[in-house]
Amino acid sequence: FRKIVIAIDGYSACGKSSTAKEVSNILGYRYIDTGAMYRAVTLYFLDHHVAMTNPKEVARALQDIHITFKISTKNKSETYLNGLNVEKTIRTMRVSEMVSPVSTIKEVRVAMVEQQRRLGKERGVVMDGRDIGTVVFPQADLKVFMTADLLTRAFRRQRELLEKNQMVDLDDVVENILQRDKIDTTRKESPLRQADDALVLDTTHVTLEEQVDEVVRLALAKM
Ligand code: C5P
Repeated sequence: FRKIVIAIDGYSACGKSSTAKEVSNILGYRYIDTGAMYRAVTLYFLDHHVAMTNPKEVARALQDIHITFKISTKNKSETYLNGLNVEKTIRTMRVSEMVSPVSTIKEVRVAMVEQQRRLGKERGVVMDGRDIGTVVFPQADLKVFMTADLLTRAFRRQRELLEKNQMVDLDDVVENILQRDKIDTTRKESPLRQADDALVLDTTHVTLEEQVDEVVRLALAKM
């Protein structure tokens, strides 16, 4: 089998990362969560009070930001910001509420896309995000565009947060998903959109296992 590049894009909280993680485990591929990278940048901006509208401050901050991934003892990919494990912190609502505005900044995107292309150079990767099939790897062997009903997405995300002991109102989760989708689809720099050659996967009535099986099946056909 040849090693391929799998791009998974779609709206917020559709199960992209859960699917991508499982698929990468099954295929023995590397999983790269590009949303985690934008979240790590956002966390840095918040903690260091970086003025988002000041290009000089943004450029300086980007030079000081080093994002890496390490595999935990539980075989999970975890995000590190300047050597610190930020996997939990980047999933909090504080970061979720600011990540889409930060992700509209051109300089931020240029820096992240460059790193993502480097990470995917070896192939044998599953990458999930918003612009993987359109901008990061327009030549990806398999492109999947995931979507699901708003309420289904919100329920799933709320349950995920509860499992991590974060109590959030369903209304707040819905509001956050709507806000992020709106900003992500309407921004000037690489907006979220379905690539022409992407296959659509609606996960509203599908279990995680079925989603994973479907993507693995599609991947095998490309190898
Ligand atoms: O994937 P996740 O929901 O964690 O992504 C968080 C946010 O990061 C998205 O709402 C989007 O604003 C931004 N993002 C992006 N491009 C990507 C991945 C994520 O702009 N490739």
